[in-house]
Amino acid sequence: MGYVVSFSNHKGGTGKTTSTINIACALRDQKKKVLVIDLDPQGNLSYSLGVTDYKFNVIDWLTDLATDEQSIIPVQGIYIVPSSVSIATREEDVKSLWNFRYLMKEKAALLDFDYILIDCPPTIGAYTQIALTASDFVIIPILLEILSIQGLSQIMKFIKEIKITSNPGLEILGVLGVCVNESRKLTNEVLEYIDFTYKVDVFNNRVHNNVKAAEAPSFAKSVIDYAPESTSARDYKSVTEELLKKIENSTNLKRTTN
Ligand SMILES: Nc1ncnc2c1ncn2[C@@H]1O[C@H](COP(=O)(O)OP(=O)(O)O)[C@@H](O)[C@H]1O
Ligand SMILES: [Mg+2]
Repeated sequence: MGYVVSFSNHKGGTGKTTSTINIACALRDQKKKVLVIDLDPQGNLSYSLGVTDYKFNVIDWLTDLATDEQSIIPVQGIYIVPSSVSIATREEDVKSLWNFRYLMKEKAALLDFDYILIDCPPTIGAYTQIALTASDFVIIPILLEILSIQGLSQIMKFIKEIKITSNPGLEILGVLGVCVNESRKLTNEVLEYIDFTYKVDVFNNRVHNNVKAAEAPSFAKSVIDYAPESTSARDYKSVTEELLKKIENSTNLKRTTN
C-alpha cells in the first residue's frame, strides 16, 4: 500500500520543498519507490531537481490531458510530476477533483509507489485543499522563529476543517524544525510553545541550518546526493528514519483499533 504525505505550511520559505526532496531521496536509499508531486506554481521542486524542460504539468496529469507515461519523469532514482508558473491560473480545474484521494491511492497501487510526497504551495487554496484531502499524513516544516507560529496556527485550523469536510483520516505526522540553530535559546522556546499550545507531535530530529542545503538546488540535486556527509544530509536521513517509525506505529495502531 502506498502512503500519501503532504508537506504544507501557510507560509513560504519554511523548508517544505527542501524537505520533500530530501525525504524522497532518503526513502529512495531505503529501497522505496517514491513519486514527488510539485503542486506549487513556483515550481521550486521541479527546478531544484533540474526538471524544467517538460511537456505536461501536474494539472494536465490530474485532469487526464496527459497519461502517466507522459507526465511522470524519472530523475535521480525517484519520480516527479513537475509544475511551473503555468499552473498558477488553473486552480479552478482541480476544484471538481473530489475523488483525488482515490485517484492517488489508485496511482500508487497501479504504478507500485511506496510513497507519494506532495509539495504544497504556501497558500491555503484549491491545491493545498486537494493535497490534504488525498493525504494519509501531513508534515508541517517550520522555521523555528517566532513569526512561523503565525503560519502554523492557520494551517492547523485548515487541517481541522479538512478532517471534518473531506478527509477524516488525515493525520499530522509532525511539525519538523528546519534551519535550526541549536545555540539559539529561541529554538527550544518555540518548540515548547508549539507542543503546549497545539498539542501536536514535533519530530525529535531537526534539520540544522547548513549552507549545503541551500546550495544543493543550484546543482539540481538533493543535499543527500550533493553533499552526503553534510549535517543536513545526515539530519534528513535521521528525520526519514523517524518518519518511517511514526508511520509504522500509526499503521499498527489503526490495525489494532479497527
Ligand atoms: N537546512 C537548511 N539550511 C540552510 N538553508 C536552508 C535549509 N533548508 C532550506 N534552506 C533554504 O531556505 C530557503 C527556503 O526553503 P524551501 O525549502 O524552498 O522552503 P519552502 O518550500 O517552504 O518555501 C531555500 O532557499 C532553501 O535553499
Ligand atoms: Mg516551496
